[in-house]
Amino acid sequence: MSNEDQKPAEAPLKERGTYRSHRPQGPKFLAYISANWADRDNTLPARAEAAPFAKARRAVVAERFAGKVVMIEAGAMKTRSNDTEYRYRPHSAFAHLTGWGSATVPDSVLVIDTRHSTQTIYLRETAGRNSEEFFANSAIGEFWLGPRPTLEQVSALLDIDTKPIGDLDDFRSELHDSDVLTLENDELSEYLSELRFVKDSQEIAEMRKAIAASVKGFEEVAKNLSKAVGHKRGERVVETSFFSQARIEGYDLGYETIAAAGHHACILHWMVNDGPIKDGDLLLLDAGVEVDSLYTADITRTIPVNGKFTDPQRKVYEAVLKAADAVFAIAKPGLAFRELHAEAMRVIAETVSEWGFIDISAEESLKPENQLHRRWMVHGTSHHLGLDVHDCAQAKRDLYLDQVLAPGMVFTIEPGLYFQPDDLMVPAEMRGIGVRIEDNVLVTETGVENLSAALPRRVDEVEAWIAKTR
Ligand code: GLY
Ligand code: MN
Ligand code: MN
Repeated sequence: MSNEDQKPAEAPLKERGTYRSHRPQGPKFLAYISANWADRDNTLPARAEAAPFAKARRAVVAERFAGKVVMIEAGAMKTRSNDTEYRYRPHSAFAHLTGWGSATVPDSVLVIDTRHSTQTIYLRETAGRNSEEFFANSAIGEFWLGPRPTLEQVSALLDIDTKPIGDLDDFRSELHDSDVLTLENDELSEYLSELRFVKDSQEIAEMRKAIAASVKGFEEVAKNLSKAVGHKRGERVVETSFFSQARIEGYDLGYETIAAAGHHACILHWMVNDGPIKDGDLLLLDAGVEVDSLYTADITRTIPVNGKFTDPQRKVYEAVLKAADAVFAIAKPGLAFRELHAEAMRVIAETVSEWGFIDISAEESLKPENQLHRRWMVHGTSHHLGLDVHDCAQAKRDLYLDQVLAPGMVFTIEPGLYFQPDDLMVPAEMRGIGVRIEDNVLVTETGVENLSAALPRRVDEVEAWIAKTR
């Protein structure tokens, strides 16, 4: 017999992930690893501030979908590659209706059973030390991912009934499909999105927290700018400064940071961030911190990295600022959401017409059949902001655009102008300049409050801010 013949058969592909080590499985080991652990800390946590707000939101949903069983899945861990997962983040609808944010146990499901007026979170509660799971299961085990709360702890935190996730299949099997609504259902998904248009006081407080943390991130970037300028991957230095501040605050990002120097600023969602930053460049930084409740900011500042705008840079910057200011000036309760964009476009069209970039008047360009000015700003001016950076995204299009502004709405004002480096329609000195100024505003009784006003936006303020850090 050759050596070849003595080798055991290859394991099936699915089982090969265990090659790295062999976990002992004998009864002696199982008894040993299960024994002699101190009692778990079963102290009940204080009620989450979000709990009564989430309860009120669930009541509205229950009323709207009376007779149905609404099931909102938090969602599973997502694989990045092979057996490596992304950091977990539950679905925004789940966070909104439970008040459970970054600490959500993956795979949890909220069930609003309107037939019996019950509301329950099914979750994978803590596993016993006599289970193999806690030490041997690298996907969910305590030795691998950390301990999970008990049913009682989650119930105390969120003020809702809780049940083991294992009970969900039985519950589900007793239901008719027609009784159940999940996020796959368009009507439910749309309704839950529209429910988030107007923020309550808990949400507004969380938005303020996210924005305050983001402001600190921008300040950290400014402080570290000298390390970024001249670095061959200066954009990475900027991205890292913002991220490190977010993490130091204890938080995460609401979306991938856009750190775009020079002509990269003309790529609207540039997040490769591998470019250099050169003296004389503008840096466009679009970044937002997501706090534990999962509310996020979405702020952009465009800054001259050496502290001084060149004449063409200033010209573009002032034009964008003028568009933003025009939107700020009209935003108030009663105005239709679509008017925000229309107002910014009026200023942008006037600007590029004045500069001779289009050979028709602004008025002509603004007609739906022309729109030539949009060559230099293809994106929208405003979007709702909240648990998602593009919040309320499943709302009916007409409702999103035609709704009138109401106190409690939070959205961005973010006009821009982007002159691609190879754009022969504009003078050479303008090519490669991209500017966006993005603020986050809250509609008040009389107008809007700029929640991100702590960051400079006027030319002289921006220059003074950067000069101070040098
Ligand atoms: N950060 C994406 C946006 O501004 O909409
Ligand atoms: Mn935005
Ligand atoms: Mn943005």
